[in-house]
Amino acid sequence: MTLTGKARLAGVMGWPVAHSQSPRLHGYWLSQHDVDGAYLPLAVQPDDLAVALRALPALGFRGVNLTLPHKERAVELCDEVSEPARRIGAVNTIVVDADNRLVGSNTDAFGFLANLRDASDWRADAGPAVLLGAGGASRAVAVALSDAGVESIAIANRTARRAEALAETLGGAVHAVPWAARSDALADAALLVNTTTLGMRGQPPLELDLDALPTQAVVNDIVYAPLETPLLAAARARGNPAVDGLGMLLHQARPGFEAWFGVRPEVTPALRDFVLGGLN
Ligand code: ATR
Repeated sequence: MTLTGKARLAGVMGWPVAHSQSPRLHGYWLSQHDVDGAYLPLAVQPDDLAVALRALPALGFRGVNLTLPHKERAVELCDEVSEPARRIGAVNTIVVDADNRLVGSNTDAFGFLANLRDASDWRADAGPAVLLGAGGASRAVAVALSDAGVESIAIANRTARRAEALAETLGGAVHAVPWAARSDALADAALLVNTTTLGMRGQPPLELDLDALPTQAVVNDIVYAPLETPLLAAARARGNPAVDGLGMLLHQARPGFEAWFGVRPEVTPALRDFVLGGLN
């Protein structure tokens, strides 16, 4: 629809920002719900992040998403940061409140769980989880699973000290296992999540032996290009439920859209197809 002078404004700050699928995704929901609003790609250099965020209330923005490389830095720049975002160490969604304060949260943990529950019968009490990788995505997934009540969360990472550091800061159910032991760690797992970049288009393959994994365990790959990774294909071939990574990207966008534009959006097959069209 044509924007009026009262249009609600939001966007995504990144550097670079051109690869972000968020404008396409939010744009779909804006037109679907006929919202008088816009969601813009905002190319903000790292050195300009503080000034750009402070300008949001002055420009009348209701908030923004943050993508690489701004998510970690934004934790210090917000006036208020949600508890999960603090533990994840990254803010991906900012809402400008009624007092023009910047309220930061992290919707990746929400998106991960919403997608997993939407696309499979997984339950937190089904058994142990194994995470491959110890980067930012792994941190959000580990916090999500830990908050959901999963009793054992094993993290295997090529660089062992990153997995150990995650286990130390998150504590509780989270523990590190050696990268070399990743295949053995799958015995009695109820959930396997790949948060590494292995298996992504242009990246090396993920080497993993699924033999020990119970066939009812859910296998989730955070990678969504390609949508059907070799890991998901191997999981499906032996009868495991397989969940792709696109759903997490779509679900993590829901809380921000609702806060900025006042409509609760849904993840539908048509939305998946539309966003996939932008990836190919
Ligand atoms: P993100 O924040 O998106 O999770 P990241 O911090 O760059 O991204 O993390 C990428 C993950 O993929 C890391 O766990 C990385 O392992 P290291 O911590 O050892 O770097 C993992 N990864 C990338 N390439 C890999 C490879 N060739 N073999 C094993 N793990 C790899």
